[in-house]
Amino acid sequence: MTTDIRGHRTTTAEARDQLAARLEFYRRRTKQLIAPLDDDDLHRQHNPIMSPLVWDVGHVGNFEELWLLRRLDGRPAHDLRLDEMYNPFDNPRWTRGELPLLNRSQAIEYIDEVRGDALEIVRRTDLDPANPLVRDGYVFQMVIQHEAQHQETMLQELDLRDDLPAYGDVARPHSATSRPVDDTERVAIPGGPFLLGTNDTTEGYDNERPQHEVELATFTIDRFPVSNRRYAEFIEAGGYERADLWTNEGWDWRTGVDIDAPQGWTRRVGGVWLIRRFGHVLDLDATEPVQHVSFHEAEAFARYAGGRLPSEAEWKKAATWGPEATAPNVYPWGSAVPTLDHANIGHVGWGPAPVGSYPAGASAYGVEQLLGDVYEWTSSHFAGYSGFTSFPYPEYSEVFFGDPEYRVLRGASWATSTDATRSTFRNWDYRIRRQIFSGIRLAWDGA
Ligand code: AVJ
Ligand code: FE
Repeated sequence: MTTDIRGHRTTTAEARDQLAARLEFYRRRTKQLIAPLDDDDLHRQHNPIMSPLVWDVGHVGNFEELWLLRRLDGRPAHDLRLDEMYNPFDNPRWTRGELPLLNRSQAIEYIDEVRGDALEIVRRTDLDPANPLVRDGYVFQMVIQHEAQHQETMLQELDLRDDLPAYGDVARPHSATSRPVDDTERVAIPGGPFLLGTNDTTEGYDNERPQHEVELATFTIDRFPVSNRRYAEFIEAGGYERADLWTNEGWDWRTGVDIDAPQGWTRRVGGVWLIRRFGHVLDLDATEPVQHVSFHEAEAFARYAGGRLPSEAEWKKAATWGPEATAPNVYPWGSAVPTLDHANIGHVGWGPAPVGSYPAGASAYGVEQLLGDVYEWTSSHFAGYSGFTSFPYPEYSEVFFGDPEYRVLRGASWATSTDATRSTFRNWDYRIRRQIFSGIRLAWDGA
């Protein structure tokens, strides 16, 4: 028997079939994602902050080889030069375009070969031993999530480009419902203790553990992520020109890179905002959550609006605690597996859905769209929780702890896969980054 994050138990045979099916599901998506690109496009490094997409393809295969074929099954290395090339620490993103990378057909051949072996391994591995690496399928989950996370990274690369040929059908994102809402509504969260983090070892990453009590003062939080309407108001009020709204570091960044709107926004004659989305140019939808903003922009917006960014603990309490709670919910809405009624996740559309689209995804306190649409910047630095132990490798998160340039982002974006969507997930990035699908939710002290 194996157990999942929600406490559901399945037979080992069923669990293996599910893992194999999910490995295959994400592989199909990786291939779909690169299918519209010609070879030159796929091999070229378009921006120093992102990898050539063909690097991501080879890297997910190499990660799978390292963990499933070699670590788990003791097989010899396919080719040690691949380990060097696809090691993210030896090769910072800006250098990856210079590497003798596998080209499209070589990379596909490599990942297909690794996958053939991986499927054979998953079908005969005992998932229920004393070894925490395979217990409940953990290492397979890790490989699945890893590929899914790189798909989100690949989508960031595509959305960053201003020379991308119009990509796919960027139809409106899925909305469970459309209802007119007041996008400035707030919810008060009473002070008191709650539980941050998790003890789950079935799919959570090491940085999510251990669960521990945190005491918070009463605070108030936005019911919805900050909408484009609210953010555009900040711009119209001269938000990008007013040094008093920015921290010193934020103002240095804003003037240094000379930006005056979120990534992808341009003004049409007459002042109407247009946005670029995967090579398409669309009218800005005022009801969608703002995305592609840096931490510095989020902080400046907060100061303009008289609020602040929540800490990650505040975000988590608003998301999974409740008036009667004695334990946190797995998801804001409870423990039901996420569906498209709860949240805009899994890249079913190509952007965030309007605020108010997911009432069924509300937390017990009534806070909405905490998972899906956009990751939300928090004021928290990235560090291990007290009692943290690295598992199964320090390079996932521990080596990033304590860098003062990182901030934690919480939630999930429209591009996050179901398999990486959970309320304990901690994302992090540099304060200046905004190619990620990042947005804002404000908090205030007191009720
Ligand atoms: C958790 C999104 C910060 O992309 O650097 C991918 C995920 N880790 N491969 C990243 C990750 C290793 C990671 N983030
Ligand atoms: Fe990776």
